[in-house]
Amino acid sequence: MKKPITVHDIMSKKGKEQIVMVTSYDFTMTRIIDASDIDIILVGDSAGVVMAGGETTLGVTMDQMIYHTKCVTKARPGALVVGDMPFMSYQINKEQAIANAGRFLQEGQAQAVKLEGGKRVLDQVKAIVAADIPVMGHLGLTPQSIHAFGGHKVQGRGEEAAKALLENALALQDAGVFSLVLECVPVNVAKEITAALKIPTIGIGAGSHCDGQVLVVQDLLGMFKEFRPRFVKRYATLFDVIKDALDTYSSEVRSGIFPDESFSFKE
Ligand code: KIV
Repeated sequence: MKKPITVHDIMSKKGKEQIVMVTSYDFTMTRIIDASDIDIILVGDSAGVVMAGGETTLGVTMDQMIYHTKCVTKARPGALVVGDMPFMSYQINKEQAIANAGRFLQEGQAQAVKLEGGKRVLDQVKAIVAADIPVMGHLGLTPQSIHAFGGHKVQGRGEEAAKALLENALALQDAGVFSLVLECVPVNVAKEITAALKIPTIGIGAGSHCDGQVLVVQDLLGMFKEFRPRFVKRYATLFDVIKDALDTYSSEVRSGIFPDESFSFKE
């Protein structure tokens, strides 16, 4: 078994080595991820899209997230497991935020939680951190705010917006987050924020100057064919690999090739 990666290991990578993070939502994928060299597994609320077929992440519930987190931690990965707090699981007040963050550690066996937003959720971040639950921040194109943003738009463009993003990042750092996801922000803005922070930044559509990168695992494996955001690099085309295997299986079943004797039991 690999030595488990802690939040302190992640923090100490800043300025030394890049942090590699992917999403996972189930046992089998987590076992594959664990065979590779990945630092952080995010049980993302993107589960609502890639696992449940939703158009946005807004319909995801705490119970769904706890289910996926349990499936991931059952695989006992060496990577740090971060549970993503879904829409309306922390926005209401500190008490709600602590209780739901606690469920990720107590029921899901995650080691940390992630939530979206800056200054407007600082009280919640401070309260969760004070309960000894490590928190990862998330700024930029935060998908739970998709309707407020009016669509999938790059955030932090222009001087004012870039300044606001930096201020939010510094406020989250002061509130105690151990790392910060920057999603869909211009390269130079992510560079400036990364240089200004003591904690590591992890980019998705935020260029190469962040302290690490994250991608949704189905995106990087090429399991979707029809839609590819600009920031997604496909490292495989598993859609085709899986489809070819299924085509071969069905033609062998239909032609009687499978199962032959070697896949059958004798008396
Ligand atoms: O839910 C998710 O997968 C995420 C990452 C893309 C950062 O929040």
